[in-house]
Amino acid sequence: MNWQPCDQRYEKLTYRRCGNSGIQLPALSLGLWHNFGNITPFSVQRDLLRTAFDSGITHFDLANNYGPPDGEAERNFGEHFLRDWKPYRDELIISTKAGYGMWPGPYGDHGSRKYLIASLDQSLQRMHLDYVDIFYHHRPDPDTPLEETMSALDHIVRSGKALYVGVSNYPAELADRAFSMLKEMGTPCLIEQPKYSMFERWIEGGLTDVLRKHKVGCIAFCPLASGLLTNRYINGIPADSRAAHDPRFLKPGAITPEVLSKVIKLNALAEERGQKLSQMALAWVLRDPVVTSALIGASKPEQILENVQCLQAGPFTQEELDRIDQILAE
Ligand SMILES: NC(=O)c1ccc[n+]([C@@H]2O[C@H](COP(=O)([O-])OP(=O)(O)OC[C@H]3O[C@@H](n4cnc5c(N)ncnc54)[C@H](OP(=O)(O)O)[C@@H]3O)[C@@H](O)[C@H]2O)c1
Repeated sequence: MNWQPCDQRYEKLTYRRCGNSGIQLPALSLGLWHNFGNITPFSVQRDLLRTAFDSGITHFDLANNYGPPDGEAERNFGEHFLRDWKPYRDELIISTKAGYGMWPGPYGDHGSRKYLIASLDQSLQRMHLDYVDIFYHHRPDPDTPLEETMSALDHIVRSGKALYVGVSNYPAELADRAFSMLKEMGTPCLIEQPKYSMFERWIEGGLTDVLRKHKVGCIAFCPLASGLLTNRYINGIPADSRAAHDPRFLKPGAITPEVLSKVIKLNALAEERGQKLSQMALAWVLRDPVVTSALIGASKPEQILENVQCLQAGPFTQEELDRIDQILAE
C-alpha cells in the first residue's frame, strides 16, 4: 500500500514568510547534504524524509554535488520521489544548486550560464522533476561577471525550470548587487542561503542588513554546526556520529576542549530553559525574523522529532541572550 502522510502534519510547525514573497517556509527545513548518499541505507533515507514531512517540514534542500558520490543525493531523492512524493509535489518546496565542480573540463564548475543551465537540466533528470521550486547559485564566482550568472538565473525562471532563485554564500556587498540586478531583470531573489549558527555569526556583520533592505528571505545552513551544537559530543565521539562515520567535513579534530567547554555551558543554559541544546541552538538562529528557516540535517528520525519542538520553550530573555554571547566570547 502507498505511504500515507500524517493528517495533522500542518499543526506541528510554524511557517514564516520568506522576505516579501508569497512563499512561506517551515521554521525548519531538511537538507540532504549528508545521509542521502551511497553510505546510508535507502530505508533510513526514506524514514528521514517521511518523518520530516509528517512533522510539517515541507522544504527539502539539495545540490548537484550532494552525495557521496556527487549527484547521488539527487538520484536517491528522485527514487524516493517516485515512490512516496509524487502525489504531494504541490505541497513541497524542493531546491537545488550549482556552483561547485560537477564534471570534468571548463564547463562543469563555477558560475557561467553554460554550467548553471546544463547542471539544472541534469538535476531535474536525476530527481525526476519537471521543475524545482528554488534554484541557487551555490557560491560566488569571482571570474564570471555577476551579470552573466544573474541573467542565467533569470533565464532559468523564465524557462519554467525553477519557480524562484536564490544565492548561497554570497557576502553582503555582492548580495546587494546581485539582488538589485535580479530585481531589475524582473526575477527578484527569493532567498539567500548562508552558514549561520552560534559558532558562525558572519552574517550579522552586514548581510542581514542587506537582506532586510531588499526584503529577501534567509535560510541558515548548519544551524547546529553539523552536530557540535547538540549533546552529541559531550561524552566523546559516538561511533554513529558524523565526526566518526563521515568525517568529510566535520573532522574529529574540530571537537577541541575549547569548543566542548562552550558546548557544555550552552547545554546547561538550555537545560535551564527546559529544552535540549539542539533546540536552543535552532531557536537562537530563528530569534531574528530575517531568518526564515533553519536548514538542518539529520541522521535519525528522532533528531527531527526533537528539533521540530525547538520553538516550544518560548522566546529568549535579554539576559539569556547576553549569557549566550558571554559563553561564545570566552
Ligand atoms: N549552501 C551551502 O554551501 C551549504 C553547505 C553545507 C550545508 N548546506 C545545507 O545545510 C543542510 C544542513 O547541514 P548540516 O547537516 O551540517 O546541518 P546541522 O543541522 O548543523 O547538522 C546536522 C547534524 O547534527 C546532528 N543532529 C541533528 N539533530 C540532532 C539532535 N537533535 N541531537 C543530536 N544531534 C543532532 C546530526 O549529526 P549525526 O550524523 O552525528 O547524528 C545531523 O546530521 C545540508 O543538508 C544542506 O542542505 C548548505
